[in-house]
Amino acid sequence: MSRSAHPAGPRHADVLPEGHYTAPPSDLNLLDPKVWARTVERNDRGVVTVGGIGVDELREQFGTPAYFLDEADFRARCRAWADAFGADADVFYAGKAFLSRAIVRWLKEEGLNLDVCSGGELTTALSVGMPAERIAFHGNNKSQEEIQRAVEVGVGRIVLDSFQEIVRVAHIAESLGKRQRVQIRVTVGVEAHTHEFIATAHEDQKFGIALAGGQAAEAVRRTLKLDGLELIGIHSHIGSQIFDMAGFEVSARRVVQLLAEVRDEHGVELPEIDLGGGLGIAYTSEDDPREPHHIAKALTEIVTRECEAAGLRTPRISVEPGRAIVGPTAFTLYEVGTVKPLAGLRTYVSVDGGMSDNIRTALYDAEYSVALVSRTSDAEPMLTRVVGKHCESGDIVVRDAFLPADIAPGDLIAVPATGAYCRSMASNYNHALRPPVVAVREGEAKVIVRRETEEDLLRLDVG
Ligand code: LLP
Repeated sequence: MSRSAHPAGPRHADVLPEGHYTAPPSDLNLLDPKVWARTVERNDRGVVTVGGIGVDELREQFGTPAYFLDEADFRARCRAWADAFGADADVFYAGKAFLSRAIVRWLKEEGLNLDVCSGGELTTALSVGMPAERIAFHGNNKSQEEIQRAVEVGVGRIVLDSFQEIVRVAHIAESLGKRQRVQIRVTVGVEAHTHEFIATAHEDQKFGIALAGGQAAEAVRRTLKLDGLELIGIHSHIGSQIFDMAGFEVSARRVVQLLAEVRDEHGVELPEIDLGGGLGIAYTSEDDPREPHHIAKALTEIVTRECEAAGLRTPRISVEPGRAIVGPTAFTLYEVGTVKPLAGLRTYVSVDGGMSDNIRTALYDAEYSVALVSRTSDAEPMLTRVVGKHCESGDIVVRDAFLPADIAPGDLIAVPATGAYCRSMASNYNHALRPPVVAVREGEAKVIVRRETEEDLLRLDVG
């Protein structure tokens, strides 16, 4: 995640330490629509609302910390992606970003498909009737049981990730008397401009089969020979939180090249390509993500152009956005517990959650925004670090952020754009209870994932 240091505003320059922050906005009470869910606004009492409900009321009903998800925004983003790609392409929501039964129901209703990467995600999807043919199964080390189940229920595709897996899936499908539709995940050798841990198309990492050295061509050769497998296409996922389309362009070009080689060698035109997910969202006002219709247009044009040049029929395209659909739709609501000014440095604001509900700052040095949401304030901007309640100093939620200088215990603050990879990567570190996810829509709030309880913790602890 790129961080750039910016000079702070002149009235602070002499007192602010080194850091990665921009000058404070002229009005800290304003909420940048780029980073907040669509229905978020302030009411005339200065309280922030989502779906028409104030955070004060939400706190009363659901407590803190909690994730509040704007259902209308989620559905609108699903539709925007589906409309942008149209009837000749498929959008698979990447469930790893955040999955629950309610989410699966909404996806079904909005006509999206689903990418799962574990037996648990598959079970969640099937439990509310997601048609198996609309599910893609991913993973670099799927277990025998996971493959068996996926083939039995008839998932629409399994994305093969290794030579061993080609054989494993083929055996299982044959033993069940089935022919499983598969794609082969290739690594195209692109260095995506994102954090190392979430870049996936360079060669020195665990995913996929390299195009380089003819590995992917060999995987196609082996797959085509096996009766249990129907090879429907090639898959490439280059990484996550990417803004620059150049990586997708190279990826599409290299995948189409492989399709041309397959046609030349085997006389087969594979009908599909999947370009993965990875489209970035705005975590701060500095980020400028692209709209789905720009992305769809760019990807479709690249693939069409490359296929024309290679004399291939344009394959059906699919994409797998996770973060770009769910990320911006939720914020985490926290209550401020302590405020600790450190002279010449910054003020530490401790909240009632932390790295157990948002590990991304600690793990990827991710940047977030934060706002005081239970009231407005005319106090001066003050440089703060929003930290959690866990027993380590890396427990940072927002590394550098301006909050009003009168911030005090009992205030509610919210961190926007926490819909993706926050609840799904939440932990019980320090026996924290994972927060609930509450969906809010048109004046109604309903829990879609309940808060964990101490009984939940004790239930797993045997002996
Ligand atoms: N398709 C495949 C094969 C993937 O591996 C992923 C994400 C996606 C689609 C969805 O990517 P998205 O559109 O959400 O960027 N925990 C990290 C992100 C890991 C992404 C893993 N794979 C984070 O918090 O940034």
